Amino acid sequence: AQTPVKVTVTGAAGQIGYALLFRIASGQLLGADVPVKLSLLEIPQAVKAAEGTAMELDDCAFPLLSGIEVTDDAGKAFDGANVALLVGARPRTAGMERGDLLQANGGIFGPQGKAINDNAADDIRVLVVGNPANTNALIAQQHAPDVPAERFTAMTRLDHNRALSQLAAKLQVPVTEIMKMTIWGNHSATQYPDLFHAEVGGKIAAEQVDEAWLRDTFIPTVAKRGAAIIEARGASSAASAANAAIDHVFDWVNGAEWTSAAIPSDGSYGVPEGLISSFPVVSRGGKWEIIQGLEIDAFSRERIDASVRELEEERAAVRELGLI
Ligand code: NAI
Repeated sequence: AQTPVKVTVTGAAGQIGYALLFRIASGQLLGADVPVKLSLLEIPQAVKAAEGTAMELDDCAFPLLSGIEVTDDAGKAFDGANVALLVGARPRTAGMERGDLLQANGGIFGPQGKAINDNAADDIRVLVVGNPANTNALIAQQHAPDVPAERFTAMTRLDHNRALSQLAAKLQVPVTEIMKMTIWGNHSATQYPDLFHAEVGGKIAAEQVDEAWLRDTFIPTVAKRGAAIIEARGASSAASAANAAIDHVFDWVNGAEWTSAAIPSDGSYGVPEGLISSFPVVSRGGKWEIIQGLEIDAFSRERIDASVRELEEERAAVRELGLI
């Protein structure tokens, strides 16, 4: 029988964890023929709740699920891990400054990066979901010098999927007719969903909508969708975030055509090297590759630059705080 793939999920007792774990165990993360072993990492206060989720996972009798462990010890959780989904993070609470938020998350993602460095399998792939996702991924990566830098990624796939769905609704087409969607930059309100390369029915999407809709409705609706969900649901996006995490890892492992992922920049499109920024990507041979050679017009340039500037500021702030 095939050796199970070890998947570690942090923040396993949280809302996204609850929407994610059952889908992983059912085979949707890696493929319907790949057995998985789950490791659930939580803080001590939430271990019991995670154990409850583990009981429910047992009760599903998933054929592909070969084992579950629940722990508050990062070294144990990442020991031999092949895939790590870093979901648990410190949320921003009222009155918290950016520095406080980065500091608190540095205290989580620094040690977890080190634990990945020291314990994970050689083929470890990391997806950071917990916010601020791009900079948390950078912090973890900088504490894992023995792991190839490209294995640390952050999630902008939810933004990508939101952009597909908004555009599909506007043009009254199935989402499957939209190709080449891109989210650029940071997973934050500055992100730039790009319709100048997206195609619908083989024609550029930006040419099929009016500019005012693109600028004043589409971009802010996608960028602020997280807040709209909180407003409507009274809780932040969870099932859709879990779905996007599944999409990201499945595509990374199994290959994919044009999609969006936040990966370490190699300097492409003027994004400073090393920043973990969202790009148009394909997945080939288990690696993300940035799609090259796209023309970026002034409208897009300005918006990509603004989001990348925010990433640079976050990097400067975590450097200043000694977190990387
Ligand atoms: P939640 O608050 O329901 O769950 C978070 C869980 O993480 C809690 O159970 C908590 O005990 C745990 N946790 C905290 N520190 C931990 C640590 N050091 N180690 C292990 N576990 C730890 O939050 P939810 O709704 O599940 O969201 C999780 C994160 O995902 C948040 O940061 C949220 O902002 C982010 N998010 C990111 C999205 C994206 O598109 N990148 C979309 C939606 C949410």
